[in-house]
Amino acid sequence: MTLNIALLGFGVVGQGLAEILEDRRKELADHLGFEANVVAISDKMKGSIYHPGGLKAAEALRAVKETGSLDAYPEEPGLIRGWDSFRTIRETNADVIVELTFTDVKTGQPAIDHCRAAFECKKHVVMSNKGPVALAYKELSELARRHGVRWGYEGTVMSGTPALRMPVVALAGNRIDEIKGILNGTTNYMLTRMEAGMSYAEALVEAQTLGYAEADPTNDVEGYDAQYKITILGNIVMKAPLRREDVAVQGISKLTPADIQQAKDEGKRWKLIARCSRDGDRITAKVGPEMLPLEDPLAGVGGAVNAVTYDCDLAGPITLMGAGAGRKETGFSILIDLINIHRNQL
Ligand code: HSE
Repeated sequence: MTLNIALLGFGVVGQGLAEILEDRRKELADHLGFEANVVAISDKMKGSIYHPGGLKAAEALRAVKETGSLDAYPEEPGLIRGWDSFRTIRETNADVIVELTFTDVKTGQPAIDHCRAAFECKKHVVMSNKGPVALAYKELSELARRHGVRWGYEGTVMSGTPALRMPVVALAGNRIDEIKGILNGTTNYMLTRMEAGMSYAEALVEAQTLGYAEADPTNDVEGYDAQYKITILGNIVMKAPLRREDVAVQGISKLTPADIQQAKDEGKRWKLIARCSRDGDRITAKVGPEMLPLEDPLAGVGGAVNAVTYDCDLAGPITLMGAGAGRKETGFSILIDLINIHRNQL
């Protein structure tokens, strides 16, 4: 069975995914029996194209690379141009909507409305936008269930590192009493650089130049990005009806060189830690800078890397470490959700 896919948003992640699907086409078919056909691409800035028989991803990538627009995609019989995202969801023959639009994380829009529209017309959704899961998990998961479709969001936390599926699938049967993570690469990179003597402002500019920070780095440095991600982990892994606004948040902007020196003197290291903890029936979460002893596995995680420890009652503490962002990494997070829809395992 071939999955027909529509891409909403053709930026870094959308293009990364299109490249992976092209480059891995043969291996995915031979080893997993997985075949994906991109039938539609709709991007607010770059335009939109749809062909019910399938688009040539290499041509779409070339058009965007050379002209910045899908208007340069070659004309062919049956090709339709100029559809908006909602027509792409409702009127194309896509089985799966891959939601990669530029979404305002504070409102989760337009991704939340795209999910609603897709589920209502019985289409699966796969995405890496955090907003819909952090803000509307209950509503959207019930809507997907009611319409008998699947919703994949592995890339919302730690991109292609399986921070959601690993505990849900491989640690099932444990009671997870605490999740403790470094969930934001920008701040971890900055703290690593500040420990080496760089100022806060210099470290921030460097993190922005390297492309780690969000468009508005306030979300990173004030801890909101980590707050969204721990809300998602709490809901999905600990099954807690946690709301983002219940998660107390403090960022790293108030840490001074004296604080950094104090940690060094005490044989510790500052990390921006997101925690979700069980206390009897109560589950609470918070984000804030913590001084970790160097023996803590999270203390050894430097640079833009992410890591998370799951405190399991049977398996003990298990730490997962890996990339938290990136074109290929987030492209992979979408691919694994698509593969799991194909396997009927999402
Ligand atoms: N700005 C985020 C980070 C990217 O620094 O981790 C991934 O959400």
